[in-house]
Amino acid sequence: MKVRPATHDDLPGILEIYNEAVRNTTATYDYEPRTLEHRIAWFEDHVKNNLPVFVAVNDDGRVAGWSALNRYHDRKGYRFTTENSVYVAADQRGRGIGRLLMNPLIEAARERGLHAILAGIDAQNQASIRLHASFGFVKVAHFKQVGFKFDRWLDVVYMELLL
Ligand SMILES: CC(C)(COP(=O)(O)OP(=O)(O)OC[C@H]1O[C@@H](n2cnc3c(N)ncnc32)[C@H](O)[C@@H]1OP(=O)(O)O)[C@@H](O)C(=O)NCCC(=O)NCCS
Repeated sequence: MKVRPATHDDLPGILEIYNEAVRNTTATYDYEPRTLEHRIAWFEDHVKNNLPVFVAVNDDGRVAGWSALNRYHDRKGYRFTTENSVYVAADQRGRGIGRLLMNPLIEAARERGLHAILAGIDAQNQASIRLHASFGFVKVAHFKQVGFKFDRWLDVVYMELLL
């Protein structure tokens, strides 16, 4: 397993992992799978804004997971804050790939002079909460019933790492 910056060729793999989470989980509150065009535009926006995207790739070249830093807010005063994403393929979870994808992300945030990384996480997503806690993120907020998916209200916790 190797972690490296993503390229255009990785986008179908990134999309497939995200869309599985859309269809089957409350890790994201999207309801409909996204298109490849949408993911290409997302990637190009990241490149343009110097926001990193990493992939974990198996020996056979398959994308097993990905992570990214995203713009938190457009207003200038928020420019030192970023929000992260990390997704691992359903059949590869629980094997340490999420952990592998976090280190370069935090390093990339430091290199860019960012100050705070936020992670917005469904309150029942123990894997993500534990993953972030193990990298020093602390819970700073709990929003009750701000999400609705699969016929139920969902709470979101925010965890934060100050760099
Ligand atoms: C959350 C996610 C990225 C974690 O990646 P992963 O490769 O499965 O996790 P790892 O094997 O690296 O384990 C990381 C930590 O999570 C814990 N963990 C993993 N799976 C878990 C589970 N099902 N329940 C509880 N804890 C779990 C591990 O014990 C480990 O904790 P530790 O560092 O305290 O030992 C992955 O499960 C995933 O993609 N889930 C669906 C998408 C998602 O939730 N993304 C995050 C949105 S905020």
